Amino acid sequence: MEYGPAPESTKEAQAWLEQRGRQFGLFINNEWSAAGELFASINPANGSKLADLTQGTAADVDRAVAAARAAQPAWQALGGHGRAKVLYSIARLMQKHARLFAVLETLDNGKTIRETRDVDLPLVARHFYHHAGWAQLQSEEFADYRAVGVVGQIVPWNFPLLMLAWKIAPALAAGNTVVFKPAEFTSLSAMLFADICVQAGVPAGVVNIVTGDGRVGEAIVKHQGIDKLAFTGSTEVGRLIREATAGSGKKLSLELGGKSPFIVFEDADLDAAVEGLVDSIWFNQGQVCCAGSRLLVQESVQEKFLAKLRARMDKLTLGSPLDKSMDIGALVDPVQKQRIEGLVQSARDEGCTVYQPACELPADGSWFPPTLITGASTSAAVAQAEIFGPVLVAMSFRTPPEAVQLANNTVYGLAACVWTENISLALDVAPAIKAGVVWINTANQFDAACGFGGYRESGYGREGGREGMYEYLTAKSEDARPAAPVIEPKAKAKAAPVAAGGAFAIDRTAKLYIGGKQARPDGAYSRAIHGADGSFIAEVGEGNRKDIRNAVEAAHKATGWTKATAHNRAQVLYYIAENLAARGEEFAARIAAMTGAKNAEKEVQASIERLFYYAAWADKYDGLAHQPPMHGITVALNEPLGVIGIVCPNEAPLLGFISLVAPAIALGNRVVVVPSEAHPLSATDLYQVLDTSDLPGGVVNIVTGSADELARTLATHSDIDAVWRHDGSAEGCAEVERLSATSLKRTWVGGAKGRDWYSTAQAGGRAVLAHASQVKNIWIPYGV
Ligand code: NAI
Repeated sequence: MEYGPAPESTKEAQAWLEQRGRQFGLFINNEWSAAGELFASINPANGSKLADLTQGTAADVDRAVAAARAAQPAWQALGGHGRAKVLYSIARLMQKHARLFAVLETLDNGKTIRETRDVDLPLVARHFYHHAGWAQLQSEEFADYRAVGVVGQIVPWNFPLLMLAWKIAPALAAGNTVVFKPAEFTSLSAMLFADICVQAGVPAGVVNIVTGDGRVGEAIVKHQGIDKLAFTGSTEVGRLIREATAGSGKKLSLELGGKSPFIVFEDADLDAAVEGLVDSIWFNQGQVCCAGSRLLVQESVQEKFLAKLRARMDKLTLGSPLDKSMDIGALVDPVQKQRIEGLVQSARDEGCTVYQPACELPADGSWFPPTLITGASTSAAVAQAEIFGPVLVAMSFRTPPEAVQLANNTVYGLAACVWTENISLALDVAPAIKAGVVWINTANQFDAACGFGGYRESGYGREGGREGMYEYLTAKSEDARPAAPVIEPKAKAKAAPVAAGGAFAIDRTAKLYIGGKQARPDGAYSRAIHGADGSFIAEVGEGNRKDIRNAVEAAHKATGWTKATAHNRAQVLYYIAENLAARGEEFAARIAAMTGAKNAEKEVQASIERLFYYAAWADKYDGLAHQPPMHGITVALNEPLGVIGIVCPNEAPLLGFISLVAPAIALGNRVVVVPSEAHPLSATDLYQVLDTSDLPGGVVNIVTGSADELARTLATHSDIDAVWRHDGSAEGCAEVERLSATSLKRTWVGGAKGRDWYSTAQAGGRAVLAHASQVKNIWIPYGV
């Protein structure tokens, strides 16, 4: 059956643009500034100019931040119900004007009207409704949290309005005010949204929109008046933002690129899988961060599946995005087309087979046909790089473990699809894939109630649901943190005494603890540790880069700990507490000798209690079962990060160590710990406690030495998933954040502030557990 054209009228959208004189200033404090230096917004389907937009300046960003700052206290004080009413009002108005928005978005972006009308706009409205709900419930559900403050938000061009909703709805619900920057290719729907804000009664200064290119983004990122940044876009810019904000204390969430696998097992419903794949890679011309761009198909059905796929590709319609019968619209810009062409050419040059259905591309605008590449090696550019276009790269596998291995053979970890009729196989594979979202027998599902975000170099933080709300909230206990204690240099002590000889001239240098064994430091150097009065107490090993490497290797081998049951991990933590209690006096005496503490017993008791505390949490930090409006459930699992490098505080050398190590291992992580540089002996004394507590070797590895040097090594190590630093060194913490950008490690740093390690509010709770875990949302068809 042939389809006739079914064009959508652009009359209303063009009338709105005309009414605005096809020229836009900036939206700051609920006022439109006069247009400044202009740049054109182009319809990518035909190259025609739609309107002129203003290139914002640093001074404009200053004004926007000032407006947001001034408005924030009153917006927060309005209370949950007050904010809920405004968000509800936005949701209603978005629904009312959905068609106008959809047409405008299609004109500006080139994506088909079917997608803007049937996917983007309903999800936008759903996001505002859902978050009106969170605003209403905030005082009950997030009673221990407050708004972060002023939030800077930067989005890309692939889902202009949907990304706006994902950013602005939770920020406003939580009581923040925002400075928002749309992408330079696609700002028009944000301009129309500004009108909606005024109509919905958003108070002046709560939403500020500054248009322009990356320079505006940079000004927002670097602005001192911004408390949190939320960015969606390329991994490259994500890294720049991580570096630029290092040490600033700004909260940061990054939703970056992906190279998501689409796995088809031999027992899958192949026809359904083909449809899923169409949605996965040809939705929005493949310009989707979570596009299923790597097809992994089981060898036994490879030919059959690819034949079905090619037949389906032949039927895909490409043409005017305003035509309701089109599957594929225009690419956002000629730049994007050139990038895609370059990558596809590289595949041809490498001898890959490139299949493209015979389809006529319109003469004007930016177009690219649906493309299937076979025969690529796993290391080929097309198999590794985010193409961000309608290009699928297909490979085969033989066994489920090989499928998982290929799926994880990428630096990214945003999403994955698993197709099989075998529920056991699906539920075996889903947890093994390193990705923030896994869709089982479905693809590209999104909902406001379900968290979305990546593992690894796909970024961190979640958008949507309860987990997304935390990105826009700060625990009130953070406000109570004390200043970092000054660790006085100890009285100048003499060098370590030369062994006097005699019958028991035993070397008492504490070694390192790696893989469950005491190990001599690679460099064979040690450092003397002195007591509060300057007297020599003992020596500890001077760990170096090689020792950290060995420790990381040992930690990686200890995978059994991550697979152990939470009950089992809790047992081990209780056992450590029991064994510590048995030697409590000895530990108290050591703390007193090192720090001069009068009541060291108290620190030992608090450490035992903290071990109990995290043993208690080990099997209670449950995930959630979200209920999106579809036939399914979305299981949000709190998964461990993997290997965490931890630099401990100097105050409370035992309690600080336990307070960081216990939550990390309770959730199944393995750790490489640098104990207090000034007082490391509480940690080295723990070796025997750990040995006798059934803790498997490699779960906790301890390397003593220079905090600065070892932190640097941890932050640059490519096999470490997260680094925590809490020794009160502002510069050291900034360096960890800066260095983490290379592989986009998660970081948790104390900055220049201290922490009351005795306070459960400051050193415990879900906020700490959240640092030790990442949420994976698994979408499972369920019920009818
Ligand atoms: P981009 O990451 O440069 O742009 C995203 C947003 O960041 C835009 O609003 C841009 O103005 C802003 N920006 C650019 N430089 C900035 C800076 N230094 N500081 C702060 N903000 C800055 O992405 P672009 O150039 O639009 O696309 C390039 C490639 O990135 C695409 O071909 C695609 O591969 C990838 N990409 C991935 C996205 C994803 O969601 N995973 C989204 C957009 C692009």
